[in-house]
Amino acid sequence: MRIYKRFAQAAAALLFAAVVYSQREAPPPVGGPLPGLSASDAALFEAGKEDFLEVETPEDGLGPAFNGRSCAECHSVPAVGGIGNQSVTRAGSVVNGQYVEPAGGSLIHKFSKPDHRCQPVVPRNATVVATRIPIAIFGDGLIEAIPDAAIQELADNAKPDGIRGRAAMVIDPASGERRVGRFGWKAQQATLLGFAGDAYLFEMGITNDLFPSEVASGLTADQLAACDGVADPEDKRDPVTGRRSIDNFANFMRFLAPPPRLPGTPETARGEQLFQSAGCAICHRPVIQTGPSEIRALDRRPVVLYSDLLLHDIGTGDGIAQGAAGPNEMRTAPLWGLHLRKQLLHDGSALNPEQAIERHAGEASPVRDRFHDLQPRDRQALIRFLETI
Ligand code: HEC
Ligand code: HEC
Repeated sequence: MRIYKRFAQAAAALLFAAVVYSQREAPPPVGGPLPGLSASDAALFEAGKEDFLEVETPEDGLGPAFNGRSCAECHSVPAVGGIGNQSVTRAGSVVNGQYVEPAGGSLIHKFSKPDHRCQPVVPRNATVVATRIPIAIFGDGLIEAIPDAAIQELADNAKPDGIRGRAAMVIDPASGERRVGRFGWKAQQATLLGFAGDAYLFEMGITNDLFPSEVASGLTADQLAACDGVADPEDKRDPVTGRRSIDNFANFMRFLAPPPRLPGTPETARGEQLFQSAGCAICHRPVIQTGPSEIRALDRRPVVLYSDLLLHDIGTGDGIAQGAAGPNEMRTAPLWGLHLRKQLLHDGSALNPEQAIERHAGEASPVRDRFHDLQPRDRQALIRFLETI
């Protein structure tokens, strides 16, 4: 009896250990922090999330023109850090075949402070008006930790089917260095702090150390000054923590776990092989490794993002030049988290992966044709695979 009891205790302990182990190994829930963060990094994640959720007012510096009142307003589906139903508008014009940016930039803010004296509008001479939907931030700390050289190498590698792909060389506003851009539909930013500064000014109208002056399409500095009573930069350091809001946003985004992957089946395993053999993986590169990092959760980790982070012309370009990207170029969209989204492509015009693939032309034409030539059941296996990543 006693032996049995000990055996039962040992079995229970093993079971407990197995449960704890499997819980530790289970993918973190959507919107949670990277597994294995130190207590201080986990605290930075929480503080960052709080700021990311904070709704700003004109007294905090919101506006004069803005698209949203908090980061989370456009990044909250299916969890904070995700996407939203909002879209943003950009406009420009083509003169003698050359793209010309409107004074004050191509972003046309949707809203303005209550008296609306500083409401931007699409310029009368605009010949291009583009729509962009939000991009989920899940796993962006891992993307940030990919060394420039790894992306550059993908650009330099010879690729079949006449596929080109170039690294988006941009100036990182956070460090002033020339870096490989990797965030945004046009790979226009290289770091999360840089994107945070950009988004705080351009989406919310809050000036900060990286973007210290108000800008809005079609409005002069004098007009903007007359609409704005808060001294720049509006994002001040917290006297207690010493951090700015842009630091908090960057911390939250850096420590946000990647989207979870759904369980596969024999059919999706076959679909993954077809994804490779059709040539999708030439651009939608399944894995890139991060470089060395002092943060263990980011240190030499595989990033299963399904993107080469390069700029390509696949015929979907939205006509706006931005960062290093020409009007016809777009960054290969990372496909991870595809099962969390309904609208696809930069303008949200595709409502399922098939429709997104149909829009692939230009550099992707031979690959798209190979997808077309698959037997219906193979096409279905490839799509089923996409629905798990
Ligand atoms: C009005 C909606 C809106 C608000 C508010 C907003 N965003 Fe975004 N976000 C977008 C859109 C749209 C994109 C895609 C932009 C593009 O590339 O053209 C985006 C893209 C991003 C990306 C790029 C993600 C990637 O992996 O490429 C980051 C990072 C980001 N936003 C951070 C922020 C932060 C931080 C804030 C708050 C300061 C914020 N956003 C506020 C709409 C919004
Ligand atoms: C030449 C490079 C290239 C090839 C080859 C390619 N893609 Fe893409 N893919 C892109 C680019 C660039 C985008 C972003 C286009 C945009 O938003 O305008 C994209 C977007 C997508 C999207 C939408 C993702 C999102 O977040 O909205 C899906 C789905 C997709 N590709 C699947 C595939 C599949 C499946 C194949 C193979 C049949 C394939 N792609 C081949 C470059 C490529």
